[in-house]
Amino acid sequence: MPEGHKGHLPRPARCVKSIITNPTTARLDMSEKSPLPLTSHMAKGLQGSARVPGDKSVSHRALMLGALAVGETTVEGLLEGEDVLATANAMRAMGATVERRENGVWHLWGRGVGGLSEPETVLDMGNAGTGMRLVMGLVASHPFTAFFTGDASLCKRPMRRVAEPLERMGARIVARSGVRPPLAVVGTDAPLPIVFELPVASAQVKSAILLAGLNTPGTTTVIEPEPTRDHSERMLKHFGARVDVGPGPKGGRIVTLHGFPELTGRQLVVPADPSSAAFPTIAALIVPDSEVTLPEVGTNPLRFGLYETLKEMGADILLRNPRELSGEPVADLVIRSSRLKGVVVPPERAPSMIDEYPILAVAAAFAEGTTRMQGLRELKVKESDRLAAMAEGLAKAGVAVEVEGDDLIVHGKGRPKGGVLIETNLDHRIAMSFLVLGLGSEQPMRIDDSRAIATSFTGFVELMQGLGARIEASSPLIIAIDGPAAAGKGTLARRIAAHLNLAYLDTGLIYRAVGMKAQREGLEPVKAAQMLTPDDLKAPDLRSEEGGQAASKVASIPAVRAELLEFQRRFAAHPPPPAVGAVLDGRDIGTVVCPNAKIKLFITASDEARAGRRHKELLERGESSIYARVLEEMQARDERDRNRSVAPLVPAPDAVVLDTTLLTADAAFEAALRIIADRTHA
Ligand code: DC
Repeated sequence: MPEGHKGHLPRPARCVKSIITNPTTARLDMSEKSPLPLTSHMAKGLQGSARVPGDKSVSHRALMLGALAVGETTVEGLLEGEDVLATANAMRAMGATVERRENGVWHLWGRGVGGLSEPETVLDMGNAGTGMRLVMGLVASHPFTAFFTGDASLCKRPMRRVAEPLERMGARIVARSGVRPPLAVVGTDAPLPIVFELPVASAQVKSAILLAGLNTPGTTTVIEPEPTRDHSERMLKHFGARVDVGPGPKGGRIVTLHGFPELTGRQLVVPADPSSAAFPTIAALIVPDSEVTLPEVGTNPLRFGLYETLKEMGADILLRNPRELSGEPVADLVIRSSRLKGVVVPPERAPSMIDEYPILAVAAAFAEGTTRMQGLRELKVKESDRLAAMAEGLAKAGVAVEVEGDDLIVHGKGRPKGGVLIETNLDHRIAMSFLVLGLGSEQPMRIDDSRAIATSFTGFVELMQGLGARIEASSPLIIAIDGPAAAGKGTLARRIAAHLNLAYLDTGLIYRAVGMKAQREGLEPVKAAQMLTPDDLKAPDLRSEEGGQAASKVASIPAVRAELLEFQRRFAAHPPPPAVGAVLDGRDIGTVVCPNAKIKLFITASDEARAGRRHKELLERGESSIYARVLEEMQARDERDRNRSVAPLVPAPDAVVLDTTLLTADAAFEAALRIIADRTHA
């Protein structure tokens, strides 16, 4: 295609809405970067040792306290995700020295308690709710103002619960309606120590208050209604602060921090994240003949509910060499394949394993008997409605599941069937869970997009491959459907696309649009092809017989075909998300456009049957039609399409020919689905 005309070709990004008829694929804009679909296959036995990435909660706190401590702090094993990097930037902006050395170790030189300086620019916390709330706490007891913002999703989240106690300490929060970011924290030079009873259990709010309490005289006390994650308390103590923890009135705890502690630099190693370790753990349990070691996994009881549950299910998990790392308990987990049995997981356990239910549901699918996970309301408001996503995905994969109120019930039968595609809606834990399922299910599992996995577990695929898992990029599934006019391929292609959630491209429509544009605007056909816009594909007369004839004529010009080729190929290679494949119909899809298509169908029927169908269709549309004329015109068009010098209408050598003369539309559809199923399994 000549360089100068590139802009006129209908690129997928611009005309997708007008030519994709599958409604499920039309809603997403293709201008975003392409999805990365993956497939996982049954594994033989996972073996080896691998360190999963560092714990996110501990990583945030390591940076914040390192930035306050006097002297040098080193941090090994920091989770280098965007959220944590945003916290690192915020600490730099307030005067701490924060460096990452080539060996991956972070070095910080802190400012001492109360020594942070006013940031010159807005602190962008990205997607990090933890980062935003905790840093707001830090700023509240410093005598300056800091401005905070975040990505679109963070800017929707209310900060009221944290703003209230900080205002009681003397800070002022100026925010958008609903106390949502962007917001400013106007810190105070005379912070007041408070005793604050959390209305709702929240480790983030507790931590924000404690961090504000560092630069506050006297003692700052938080009373929690039930125990929440205690990473802040542990890290504060590890850096030298005095934190007293005692039992609270309602089963929770009372946490008291003594102000103005002297924090001194430490050498930290961030424990491996138990929530990330859950994925290789379950994989090793469900894949026969596995033995996997995961070193330095955090075993904090407030995070360890999954492992407790797995033990009850009969999992063989050994906690070797238990010890402390940076104030947190850790152990090396040794996991061996196990026969699991169903259990009841009580609602009280939810806070200590809220992120782990998706992968636990996978373990439950491989167990014998019923697992009932109770009290999962929180799961509905995570990155996606995880409760619904798990129930749907498992059911598709052949697992008996039920949702009863806030409970997820999985009836395990040892080994699910698998063999389906899961839409992950950019939820990293859903993506990893179903890939793990595919390592043990009878048939491979596909996910539509794996890009989100990096939010919590960079290197997931490589780590799993290192243990012997087969997880690989899946190329788009392409179904090529060719055939003469009115053979019924358009209807068939549309139904197949809708049925398999694939994107659909009617290539005949593109030729029709070129033919009609050339006629209407008096253009050279090649010029018309070069200047084609999405609007041209919406012209009302394209589907008329005149449109078909015009198309057939321009379609015999090699330069016109060359002009349209790249667009069609790109559509097939990068179908608009969430589709992970495409159905294209035309005359040369299996021979020229997608010669490597996995499935090729050549749909045909007798001349009389096709002319009869077209005749009926025209009458139904209220257009005048004479059968003999239709037959004649159709034969003329076929003649031209078959005998042209470029891309003539012929079945590809590897196409399956389906003669629909005697078939109803439903019968043709069923036959095509059978051919597709046979070919995909082969
Ligand atoms: O499928 P259809 O009837 O809408 O196609 C109209 C004409 O366009 C057809 O007669 C030949 C041409 N065509 C083509 O040459 N190659 C394609 N891939 C699709 C259509």
